[in-house]
Amino acid sequence: MTAPHRIVFANEKGGTGKSTTAVHVAVALAYQGARVAALDLDTRQKTFYRYCENRADTQERRRIALPGPVFDICHGDTVEQLEEEAARIGEGMDYLLFDTPGRDDPFARHVAASADTLVTPMNDSFVDFDLIGQVDAESFKVRKLSFYAELIWEARIKRSRATIEQQKREMDWVVVRNRTGYTDARNQRRIDDALTELSKRVGFRAVQGLSERVVYRELFPSGLTLLDKGHLGELGTSHLVARQELRNLVGNLNLPIPQHPEGEQARTATTKMVEPA
Ligand SMILES: Nc1ncnc2c1ncn2[C@@H]1O[C@H](COP(=O)(O)OP(=O)(O)OP(=O)(O)O)[C@@H](O)[C@H]1O
Ligand SMILES: [Mg+2]
Repeated sequence: MTAPHRIVFANEKGGTGKSTTAVHVAVALAYQGARVAALDLDTRQKTFYRYCENRADTQERRRIALPGPVFDICHGDTVEQLEEEAARIGEGMDYLLFDTPGRDDPFARHVAASADTLVTPMNDSFVDFDLIGQVDAESFKVRKLSFYAELIWEARIKRSRATIEQQKREMDWVVVRNRTGYTDARNQRRIDDALTELSKRVGFRAVQGLSERVVYRELFPSGLTLLDKGHLGELGTSHLVARQELRNLVGNLNLPIPQHPEGEQARTATTKMVEPA
């Protein structure tokens, strides 16, 4: 049995859209028929866990099937315990997602370094950009890599030198631009230019994420997502665009396509909380 593909949502800066993006990607993959597991490492805020918990409640209350991940919160105190939990929840899964807290945290570092796909959401702002690189005040040219970019760089070098085949996997680092559409064109262009320059130096890809929409904040209590057609009530046509945005994002993550034996497609996988041991 091969290990699940690890998708890690991380950015040491808080409030950049990690949890929102993680939930939507998890649900989108489940809708595609993939087997998805998720561990929330943000044991203080538990946004991802709470979102899925709300989703599982809605599923039961309305007696509907809502595709989604098998999810849990991280209970471990050490990296070894975290890996044991990951092995347990990830068994037989296609994808294992990790949502991480928006601060420097040893578990977040560990899973970021072990990601197959590292997803770093950021808003179109140099405040968020600062976490990856510092720009010159006059020219907006990239001056220096941040501590975080260095960290990922080192993790990749370490992995490329690993002797164990499993640890040798390459990491695809994807910077996802979240909450787009509210900054002016000039600011957006400066960020574009700085990101392009930095992506070459650090080795990430920048892709378009979710645009700024009130609906992303409003769906949390029900745990629903834009993909849950038929359960959302009247939403209007702008949500068709939003749904397409999400599909494009998932497509741009370039994830490996799961290979299921005939008849084993997990089409009915619904959001499920891990039972306490
Ligand atoms: N595309 C969007 N449109 C509108 N609001 C959004 C969008 N993405 C995220 N938000 C809102 O921004 C806030 C922060 O998002 P989220 O909790 O996903 O970020 P985070 O990076 O997980 O934060 P933390 O670092 O605190 O864990 C939330 O109130 C969320 O509802
Ligand atoms: Mg979060």
